[in-house]
Amino acid sequence: MIPLSRYLGRLFRAEPHGSDRLALRAAPAVVCKPEPALKGEELFRSFGTGDTRSYALKGVSADFRPGELNLLMGPSGSGKSTLLAVLSGLLRPDAGAVGALGRSVWQMGEDEMERFRLRHCSYIFQGYNLFPALTAREQLEIVLKWGEGCSAREARDRADRVLGQLGLSRKAHLRPAEMSGGEKQRVAIGRALVKNPALVFADEPTSALDWENGQQVINLLTETARERGAMVLVVTHDPRLTSYADRVFELADGQLESEAAPAASGSGLPREYEHLPLAGHGPRVRLYNPDH
Ligand SMILES: Nc1ncnc2c1ncn2[C@@H]1O[C@H](COP(=O)(O)OP(=O)(O)OP(=O)(O)O)[C@@H](O)[C@H]1O
Ligand SMILES: [Mg+2]
Repeated sequence: MIPLSRYLGRLFRAEPHGSDRLALRAAPAVVCKPEPALKGEELFRSFGTGDTRSYALKGVSADFRPGELNLLMGPSGSGKSTLLAVLSGLLRPDAGAVGALGRSVWQMGEDEMERFRLRHCSYIFQGYNLFPALTAREQLEIVLKWGEGCSAREARDRADRVLGQLGLSRKAHLRPAEMSGGEKQRVAIGRALVKNPALVFADEPTSALDWENGQQVINLLTETARERGAMVLVVTHDPRLTSYADRVFELADGQLESEAAPAASGSGLPREYEHLPLAGHGPRVRLYNPDH
């Protein structure tokens, strides 16, 4: 078994506090008409081979700006989680490109990609992935100590502030086995947001929560976008969240619903997709906040 300290070191590899880090953090807050923080172009992804092959993404293109809360909605099996994974650097597409913070995600080497994710991306999934031996407060503190080199004092202050925002101040001393599912979900969300990421990816973050706790989570995600300038992309089935969103993307059968006419031909598509009836590109996006 590798020692815990080495394991954590690998997970939250310390990065030097260079000026480029500060510039990347500060940039979204001061730009008036921001460039996309994240851009997917003609993304295709399938699973399986031969007769069992299924097509989860069939040419998805979309831009996501910093400072905005984006929802990705659509029926079960429409490809939402697959798109989130491809956009967030976790799942390589069959074809297409992803640009994030001016970098071409799928052209990075493995180490570079790992550093990029640790530094700029946060993930909120349903599996929680909390460390069994650590308290709620420690789950957040290690991200700051190991990932950012924060002092113990600063890590504790920042961890406590986020736990407070999530209504977890009185649970800070509990370990995962002593928490409810909803509490674990909120700790996982706190851990994702405490490091001030530029890109936040969340897959159904409120599905395990009652309305009041879900509200706290969505408030925190909204604040992360609007006040800290992060690009936040949330997969959800929950229609109540739409009133908080800047933009809502609707995915159906591996494609973003589009007002554009169907593409005239399959030219330029990967060969294995040519037989599929693919719609034109240009997502239908509902805008909820015209100021953004
Ligand atoms: N690892 C995998 N192996 C095989 N097929 C997969 C895999 N992951 C996803 N799929 C298939 O890809 C399609 C899209 O799945 P995905 O999980 O992206 O849907 P979703 O929109 O997130 O659905 P849900 O709302 O139920 O979570 C589905 O048909 C699914 O069966
Ligand atoms: Mg899913």
